[in-house]
Amino acid sequence: MSQVSLTVNGRQVSGAVEDRTLLVHFLREHLGLTGTHVGCDTSQCGACVVHVDGKAVKSCSMLAAQASGSTVVTIEGLADGADLHPVQAAFKEHHGLQCGFCTPGMIMTATDMIRRHPEGLDETTVRAELEGNICRCTGYHNIVKAILAASAAMGKAAKGKAKK
Ligand code: FES
Ligand code: FES
Repeated sequence: MSQVSLTVNGRQVSGAVEDRTLLVHFLREHLGLTGTHVGCDTSQCGACVVHVDGKAVKSCSMLAAQASGSTVVTIEGLADGADLHPVQAAFKEHHGLQCGFCTPGMIMTATDMIRRHPEGLDETTVRAELEGNICRCTGYHNIVKAILAASAAMGKAAKGKAKK
């Protein structure tokens, strides 16, 4: 067993886990944060993406013990109360989901992608960066549209703030 202690969505959490426990299972089963999905358990689908110390990580590819001491954000930690995160709002507005199974991972990947490209994104980059996230429903078109819209909106908001 390993004792793990980490910050998840701003809350300090700790617990004893089996050494083989994956981060995704710790989040879902120990903390009840079931917004992070398991599509494959083998690093293929991207449904389980969360942020670990600010970077997108497939949480089925990391042990809970490896994440000890880190700061983790899951899909449940993105919205600000009733206010959706701009990426969530863009997925809603541009119909970037159908069954929704891939959506938490898509959104966590997208927020990291936008953070790494403050200069803005183009369609080719978005499609290339989504390589590790599989969607069986949407055909990706509206997901790409949503991410481009969120990137533009967040860029505008950042410029507005810088001017003040
Ligand atoms: Fe982690 Fe599919 S469940 S990549
Ligand atoms: Fe169904 Fe993406 S919306 S898998």
